[in-house]
Amino acid sequence: MSEHTFLRGPADWWRDAVVYQVYPRSFADANGDGIGDLRGIISKVPYLSELGVDAIWISPFYPSALADGGYDVDDYRDIDPRIGTLAEFDELVDALHSRGMRIFIDVVPNHSSDRHVWFQEALAAGRGSAARERYIFREGRGDNGEIRPSELISHFGPTAWTRVEDGQWYLHLFTKEQPDFNWDHPEVREDFLKTFRFWSDRGVDGYRIDVAHALVKDMSEPLPSRDSYDVKVMKDDGTDRLFDRDEVHNIYATWREVFNQYDPPRVAVAEAWVPANRRPAYASTKGLGQAFNFDLLIAPWDATEFQSIIDYNLTEAAASGSSTTWVVSNHDVIRHVTRYALPDGVDEHEWHRSGGVNPMPDLAVGAARARAATALILALPGSTYLYQGEELGLPEPIVPDEHIQDPQWIRSSGEMKSRDGCRVPLPWEPTGVSFGFGPAAPHLPQPDWFANYAASVQDADPDSSLNFYRRALRIRKSMTVTDAIEWLDAPAGVMAFRRSNGWTSVTNFTAASYSLPVGEVVLATGAVTDGAIGPNTTVWLQTA
Ligand code: NOJ
Ligand code: CA
Repeated sequence: MSEHTFLRGPADWWRDAVVYQVYPRSFADANGDGIGDLRGIISKVPYLSELGVDAIWISPFYPSALADGGYDVDDYRDIDPRIGTLAEFDELVDALHSRGMRIFIDVVPNHSSDRHVWFQEALAAGRGSAARERYIFREGRGDNGEIRPSELISHFGPTAWTRVEDGQWYLHLFTKEQPDFNWDHPEVREDFLKTFRFWSDRGVDGYRIDVAHALVKDMSEPLPSRDSYDVKVMKDDGTDRLFDRDEVHNIYATWREVFNQYDPPRVAVAEAWVPANRRPAYASTKGLGQAFNFDLLIAPWDATEFQSIIDYNLTEAAASGSSTTWVVSNHDVIRHVTRYALPDGVDEHEWHRSGGVNPMPDLAVGAARARAATALILALPGSTYLYQGEELGLPEPIVPDEHIQDPQWIRSSGEMKSRDGCRVPLPWEPTGVSFGFGPAAPHLPQPDWFANYAASVQDADPDSSLNFYRRALRIRKSMTVTDAIEWLDAPAGVMAFRRSNGWTSVTNFTAASYSLPVGEVVLATGAVTDGAIGPNTTVWLQTA
């Protein structure tokens, strides 16, 4: 048995919030240009409210050339005109708040876009200028500086250095359109504080911080070289040259001062792909307050693995005074219905290269496991981040090569999978040019089978995925529990735990049936026959 207890207060709403991630260009298109927009999101606020989420997180909506789906930001305090206006943003905030929902926005502090006014100024001002100091410019090697400064690769494949007209090179850990900021520069630090005040003043409740572990780098000579971004090769003592350096937390302490000037204090969640033992520093109450735990994104469908991940993360969150985050899908990974439909250990890049057919996903198994996983995490303490479309049980579509937008696929010449599949615009209706996404063809093509998953079809079907999510969220909300779980004895392949008020969750990871403990079944993701839970199923029971 393990015990996890947290303190609760009015400013603690985020601790067990269910946060729904909106990828704005692919959610709902109101004006018919094929790109989702703020008006579209506003029109779906009643849907989100009925779904029962506590908050939404919107991926970047800033002006951007979309070299990396908007994670290349031209201006941190404006909205892309294709997505909307600041007035519409205010309207969205009001619409959410008036229905008791909160809003997180995505802040991208590691890099701007190459169209940002500071980068343009740096290019114009030339080598040695003060303007270049806001980014990371270096001279090249070789007689004429023609060899890149180091052999560092970028996240999306080739080199992390690009040469500018006058011969200097700049660092970009992602695409060449995403130059990395120099966080030693006081103006960079001050400008982000200004950004947080700007949005917090507009009523934004929280922030998702992109690549939160990369801001501080040791760029002294010899310059860092790296040919892998695997967290397993990252140093886990704060001395890695590029990632997770201890000094990054000094930055977050200054952000925290700004967050705490608001009532309730603004909150933040770090996207930090760091070794698990390094997460608490990001989740500290002196820093961002919460950090994504991505462990389940990479875990196989296995009871022992799930149980040890859950135990580890609850213990870690309690120790840091935070609460943990459960995530099984987001805009960077294969939708979890399809992930769980593939055999364990499949190389997702290889699978993508096969056109998504080798191996062929077993979608019936994937859908069952996906629902079971969602019910399992919703029964846990901590907050849950859902990704748009998962409530529809959407599998991953394969976007034809000629339509791919993702720089990961493009820059790696198709070696790495495209992340566009999970970003295909949602089907709201079973018919029409975009399945109800908007009045025109969408910016990424939808497969014909999207018709079967349309929200309006599911709305009318009590057994649909959508109605399962609604039910699960409603029940979760009705629970008054402490943040404790008690593991219950169960045979191998079955995981069972109980919350303080008797709410019990049992997940059967196996292909066999298992007799449930005594109690009233309040939710079942699959068949319960003669008191036994079937394969790949989660059941919630109310026990004495
Ligand atoms: C993480 C984001 O989730 C991903 O979509 C993006 O490509 C990188 N950060 C770079 O900003
Ligand atoms: Ca639009």
